[in-house]
Amino acid sequence: MSSSSPSPSPAASRVDLDGNPVAPLTICMIGAGGFIGSHLCEKLMAETSHVVLAVDVYCDKIRHLVDPAPPHLQERISFHRLNIKNDSRLEGLIKMADLTINLAAICTPADYNTRPLDTIYSNFIDALPVVKYCSENNKRLIHFSTCEVYGKTIGSFLPKDHPLRKEPEFYVLKEDDSPCIFGPIVKQRWSYACAKQLIERLIFAEGAENGLEFTIVRPFNWIGPRMDFIPGVDGPSEGVPRVLACFSNNLLRREPLKLVDGGESQRTFVYIKDAIEAVLLMIENPARANGHIFNVGNPNNEVTVRELAQMMTEVYANVSGEPPLDEPMVDVSSNQFYGEGYDDSDKRIPDMTIINRQLGWNPKTPLKDLLETTLTYQHKTYKEAIKRQMSQASASS
Ligand SMILES: NC(=O)c1ccc[n+]([C@@H]2O[C@H](COP(=O)([O-])OP(=O)(O)OC[C@H]3O[C@@H](n4cnc5c(N)ncnc54)[C@H](O)[C@@H]3O)[C@@H](O)[C@H]2O)c1
Repeated sequence: MSSSSPSPSPAASRVDLDGNPVAPLTICMIGAGGFIGSHLCEKLMAETSHVVLAVDVYCDKIRHLVDPAPPHLQERISFHRLNIKNDSRLEGLIKMADLTINLAAICTPADYNTRPLDTIYSNFIDALPVVKYCSENNKRLIHFSTCEVYGKTIGSFLPKDHPLRKEPEFYVLKEDDSPCIFGPIVKQRWSYACAKQLIERLIFAEGAENGLEFTIVRPFNWIGPRMDFIPGVDGPSEGVPRVLACFSNNLLRREPLKLVDGGESQRTFVYIKDAIEAVLLMIENPARANGHIFNVGNPNNEVTVRELAQMMTEVYANVSGEPPLDEPMVDVSSNQFYGEGYDDSDKRIPDMTIINRQLGWNPKTPLKDLLETTLTYQHKTYKEAIKRQMSQASASS
């Protein structure tokens, strides 16, 4: 190539897993302004030539991409501020696109038992037209569900010291084999998981009866920069975000980290940038991804919530230079913290066989490294704002 030839566009050089060139796509991304959406938009803009119609009610986390779009991205990304509950523009956007990715949801555990109606409407009713429009217009859909659809493990019903609890078939979660085990209806915590399960069943049925081309993603605790909000800084002061942002908030304010019911639940955490690689593989390999449900998590990064709190305390001390508190953690009951109706899944280890076989994807980043990156970001982004807020509060008290 002569030195004056234009460099090839990123998509021109992209090939799928079978060696075929990837044609540029138009993607209608609903919920593009959230945590996962913002990372997916960045990835698509940086490494591909796909066009994104970004749909959300907020754009704060993708402002750098859309408000206004930088000159080199103006043809590639547009922001459509709309609420999918009640906006007739939705079908037109889905029709314009080759692929729809639905990320929109209420997905914060603190809401599941305090706002169960909003949670069920958001995760089931509001997703219905998206599925319908995709099915009626023969458009491919990638729908974001959750690892919460598995509910509790089979092993959790055995006595604590029962040897079968250590057998993987009693706790490893498999997309096409494991049952979905939720608590009773009075435990409203399960409103989210149940709504997500029903929309999964509906999408699956649309595939079986009407030929909808779909992929369902079950994220297992994707974490990283821009996750949720810090209460009182870029979110409501009474808000309770998911665990990573909750603990970050405590660390930034030099408060003890609150461990709900002893912090005994076990979780696996995957770095958002690893997980986004998996989503890009799904986008660009429809023949391998269609009709599948994929666990996307990192089984090697398993800790109890108590261990996570300990690791975050140590890592934050390193990145901020602030010594840990003498009493870095306190125990609170789930009733105190989340209110009546809370319940929890005990352990969440994803089986990786299907995603590995279909897409050859494996997570890379160890928990310590992803906590370092994330807490460095949290400290840099929020520390000064929190200091200002705390000094104003003490001046006015
Ligand atoms: N982050 C995780 O680890 C995780 C885990 C399990 C499941 N998920 C699922 O992945 C998806 C995205 O999660 P996230 O972490 O990015 O959440 P998020 O809350 O950061 O993003 C969701 C986005 O959807 C938008 N939205 C919600 N309702 C809308 C509506 N009616 N109209 C338009 N926009 C609307 C919100 O404004 C928000 O920007 C959700 O479906 C969630 O249930 C995520």
